[in-house]
Order: sequence, then structure tokens, then C-alpha cells
Amino acid sequence: MTVTSRISGFHKLNLQQRRDRVAELVGLEGEELEALCGRESLPLEIANLMIENAIGTFSLPLGLGLNMRVNGRDYLVPMAVEEPSVIAAVSFASKLVREAGGFFGESTDPIVTAQVQVTDYGDPNLAQQRLFAARDEIRALADTFHPSLVARGGGAREVEVRLLPAPEGPSGEPILVVHVHIDTRDAMGANLVNTVAEGVAPLIESISGGRVFLRILSNLTDRRLARSTCRIPFHLLDDGEWRGSDIAKGIHQASRFAEADPYRAATHNKGVMNGIDAIAIATGQDWRAIEAGAHAYAARSGRYGPLTTWRLEDGHLVGRIEVPMAVGTVGGPIKVHPGVQAALKLMRIESARELGVVIASVGLAQNLAAVRALGSIGIQRGHMALHARSVALTAGARGDWVEKIAAMLVESGQVKVEKARELLASLKASDGAAA
Ligand code: MEV
Repeated sequence: MTVTSRISGFHKLNLQQRRDRVAELVGLEGEELEALCGRESLPLEIANLMIENAIGTFSLPLGLGLNMRVNGRDYLVPMAVEEPSVIAAVSFASKLVREAGGFFGESTDPIVTAQVQVTDYGDPNLAQQRLFAARDEIRALADTFHPSLVARGGGAREVEVRLLPAPEGPSGEPILVVHVHIDTRDAMGANLVNTVAEGVAPLIESISGGRVFLRILSNLTDRRLARSTCRIPFHLLDDGEWRGSDIAKGIHQASRFAEADPYRAATHNKGVMNGIDAIAIATGQDWRAIEAGAHAYAARSGRYGPLTTWRLEDGHLVGRIEVPMAVGTVGGPIKVHPGVQAALKLMRIESARELGVVIASVGLAQNLAAVRALGSIGIQRGHMALHARSVALTAGARGDWVEKIAAMLVESGQVKVEKARELLASLKASDGAAA
């Protein structure tokens, strides 16, 4: 079934019409639709089994990022997020990129690293050499803990032995760490990698003659990367007010700024993660792991930098993202959370690697929308229009009055709760007078 992500006028439909449209497009049944966008996408009895001390569930708005095309395939992007501008921004930028052919991406094999810390090993070089010589034995042992992963084509790929300078200086014992790199296939893999880390520890102790302390995965999954790129001819960036080539220049300047300055890179990457986290949450991923990996990767050169770059190449704006992407389509909460199942069905995702490439593309789209605005008209015009709605809500407006007051706030140039209260009071008064 071919599904388009280009649904014009979607935001103008009411809530029920949007749900009907999605159900019809993707072929979601009643219960699946309810799981995706009903009041209780996570039933209490399941929530109660997922965590300790459960007392309820917590909701966020769930929306659809539109217009996303990656490697020639359209994706409706489920996004759970409280910030008003995020979904509009992704949809806007994806539309631009779509007109230029869409995003193109790829991902590496899904390799996650188990870390085993060895101490009290005596001679550092000798311990390192012994462990290095036994790496095949360690790798073979690692595979015995997950025969079904091995049967699915995953398993331990490589064993590495690292000797790091002691943090106290030359008087301290160097840090000796064994890495077991494991292909986790479609699982995010935290549990299975941690089992391996603990499982191989006794063998590592007996080979090194030392004592093992920490045994845990690393969230710097720099062997599990997703990449995406887009190439937009300048003329597609024209917006009537600004010339496309000037907009492209502004975006390039934003990239240069983030590449040179960690203070700016942090904000640039926050924008990227606005998109990445929203889809990660909606698809049941461990978004703290994705966040940790992304920021550690952004600092891999020794100085924190941007996760995306923008270049001007032959009359085109070219954007690139490369980001660690520890995501799964099996295991964890994915199979037990009905809303997550429905979100993955909505996306028609077939593998964790495919999901990773779409997530990276969403991050790039989100960043494009942000730097496009920042490098031209500024961010506040668009933000304020969307922010005005939540200001109207805060002031107590409901129903049709929310949009009405939001529009009046923007018009007045004062998007403030006080102003919204004033407007609400005068609307109520004139409504009462008319009744
Ligand atoms: C706001 O949530 C995100 C931005 O600050 C990102 C950026 O500055 O690139 C707009």
C-alpha cells in the first residue's frame, strides 16, 4: 500500500476529521486508532506492570509530522511533544525538502558496546596483552548468552581492550576497559548488552588476574549511526519576502556559527533534538539514551559541535546529519504499549535501522526550519503565532475563543497572559450583552 505523507489542509480539519483521515490513509482498525490517539493509549493495568509505584499515566499532545519523504518513501511521523512549534516546523521543512526530492539516508549495523572495567590487574601492558590474546574466547562466550540473537544474525562482533590514562595522573592505576561490540539487530539492546557485560566479567577477571567493577553498555553508540542528507536548490527557498540564495546564506552562517561555538552548538542541537525526541517518545524509544549518545557524539572531537551541517554547493543548500541512533522495534516497552505499536504501524516501519534513518531525517528537518527562520526573519514571528494559543488557554479561553484570542494577541503585538485575560473579559462582556 502506498501512503502519502502530503495531506494538504490537514491542520484545518478538526480533531475527529484528522483521526478519520489517518485511519483511512493507513488502514488503522478501530482499536488501533483508539490506541494511537484515544484518551488512554496506555491502559492503567499495563502502566502498572511497566514501572514500580505506578499511580497513573502522563499525557503529551501527539501530532503528525507531514510531508516526510526518505529514500523515496513517504512517512507519517508520530510526534509526542509539548512545544507548540515543533510539528509545524518539521512539516514545513519536510515539504521544502520533498519538493527537492526528499531526504536520503542510511544507517550502520546496529552495534552497541558492552564495557567491562578491570582494576587491580598488576602490570598494565601485560594485562592488556593477555586480554587481547583472549579476545576470540571472550567473543565466543558473549554469544552464548543470546543464542536467539545470534540465530537472527546478531551477536558479538569484536572485542577491544583499551588502556586509558588514570584521571589522577601518572601515580594512579590506568583504566583498563574491555569493549564487546554487539550487533543487536532490531532491539535497542540495553538489556542484552548488559547481560553480556556481566556474563563475560568472570572470564575477564581470570584472564587479566584483576578485579572487575563496572559492567554496563555505553550510550556513546558511535558504531550505531544514522545519517541523512538533503539538497535543496536555492530557488525553492524563496519565500516572497527573502530570496532563496539569501536564505541559504543565512542557514550556512548558522552552521558556521554552531561549528565554531559550543554555546551556539548546544542550542542548535536542542533544535535537532526537538524533532528527534518527539518521534522517539511516540515510538516508545529510550530517548534519554538517544540524547546521551547525541551529545557525547557532538563532543567527540574534544569540542562540542553541531549534529548537522549546512553547506552551499553549486546553487544548492546541502544539509547533513550524522547521529548515534540506539532505537529498537522489538523489546522494551515496544510490544506492550498499544500506542507505540499503533505508531509503528502508522509509519509502516520494518526495521530499527529504517526507523533510525527516519528519526535522523526528522532531526535534520527540525533544524532546517529553525536555522531558516533564525538566519532570515527570526524565530519569534512564527513562534509567537503558535505560542499565542497556549497564552489564550492559560488565560482561561476555551473552544472557538482560543483561536480568536490568539489571533487578537498576535495582531496586538502583545502575546501576554494579562492581555489575553483582558481580551477574554471583553469578549465575554460583549457575548453577554448580545445574549
Ligand atoms: C527552540 O526550541 C529551538 C531553537 O532554539 C533551535 C535553534 O536555535 O536552532 C529555535
